[in-house]
Amino acid sequence: MQDILNIKLLTDYRTLTMGKKLTDRVTWVGKVDWELKTFHGDELSTNRGSSYNSYLIRDKKNVLIDTSWLPYSREFVKNLKQEIDLTDIDYIVMCHNEIDHSGALVDLMREIPDTPIYCTAKGEAIIRGHYHKNWNFVNVKTGDQLELGDTTLTFIEATMLHWPDTMFCYLSGEEILFCNDGFGQHFATESLYDDQVCMAEVMQEAEKYYANILAPFSPLCNRKVKEILGMNLPVKMICPSHGIIWRNNPGLIIEKYLQWSDAYQEDQVTIVYDTMWQSTRLMAQAIADGIREQLPTTTVKIYNAALSDKNDILTEVFHSRAVLVGSPTINNGYSYAIAGILEMIKGLKLKKKKGAAFGSYGWSGEGIKLITEHLKAAGIETVNDGIRTMWVPDQDALEQSRQFGRGFAAAL
Ligand code: FEO
Repeated sequence: MQDILNIKLLTDYRTLTMGKKLTDRVTWVGKVDWELKTFHGDELSTNRGSSYNSYLIRDKKNVLIDTSWLPYSREFVKNLKQEIDLTDIDYIVMCHNEIDHSGALVDLMREIPDTPIYCTAKGEAIIRGHYHKNWNFVNVKTGDQLELGDTTLTFIEATMLHWPDTMFCYLSGEEILFCNDGFGQHFATESLYDDQVCMAEVMQEAEKYYANILAPFSPLCNRKVKEILGMNLPVKMICPSHGIIWRNNPGLIIEKYLQWSDAYQEDQVTIVYDTMWQSTRLMAQAIADGIREQLPTTTVKIYNAALSDKNDILTEVFHSRAVLVGSPTINNGYSYAIAGILEMIKGLKLKKKKGAAFGSYGWSGEGIKLITEHLKAAGIETVNDGIRTMWVPDQDALEQSRQFGRGFAAAL
């Protein structure tokens, strides 16, 4: 019996998280998830954990912005009760209703079932589709406002950034932009702010987040950031739903989003390959040597797709001006790891990148042609028909791969 009590006490202790004040009126009431290692099933690696940021605004009217991921639902509601009597929450604002943000709604609404939920019309449809509840929805669109007393919330639709329901909201009086997934990162920290963490790590995660989640919607993202800049809103803080809050230099992430959403590329070539008996690996290295001879200041990176984090590879491809993809021909096709990477590259809808295919083969050898076709379908401009080597490359074959690398670099 004592053991059971101890376990219960430990659980209670572990789940008690107090809110953190951002201003006199605004408190962070989210959840830091140090244990999260994958997201969207296994689609996205989150090696540095994440957070589900939720915010409580106290004014003459009190507002909760977003909730938490479903597994932390009861913990979220319990912690929120430490901050405020739930019946004192006048409005709930749901900026985006993927389950990492709306997952605590069922437990929360069980306590305050009549509280109005402000969201876009698409947001209402998604909440209804997920939870099948007939809650008190209020649909909002860009320009609609919620007067809270001394402060005002203004809603800004951000459709497809990255779901149809997404919206931002701006709190005048505090000069805070709440932007849900936008400007976020999967980055666990107890520190909360950009001036209290290692910015190199944060920017790495912010770019990975953009590349893997927002890149397919880059034209919309570019227009939305410019639209918000055009509103000339004073912004003291940008508060995303994942990771740190931008208060020291909110302009940094705005500037990065403008770059990342506009056919972004650095002076880098990324080579991604898979290999069965090292032949395609030897080709990858020889091609890299040829590129380096031709472009000595260009960064060249090589990844074995079967051994590397797929989302880190995608981020490197996003970061590059060109990508080479190599696989041995297997069963008239290419490898499982390369198939996955190619499919993911295609989904990102990258612009103005060049590419080519390479690989070894034993008899049929059509894998290289198929990779070339897949790169074209992904919007990558292939600069040639690729190169293939039969069996294990000898010195002549390696020199041909080096020459292929020189030619590829010259085409850039
Ligand atoms: Fe963080 Fe699209 O959910």
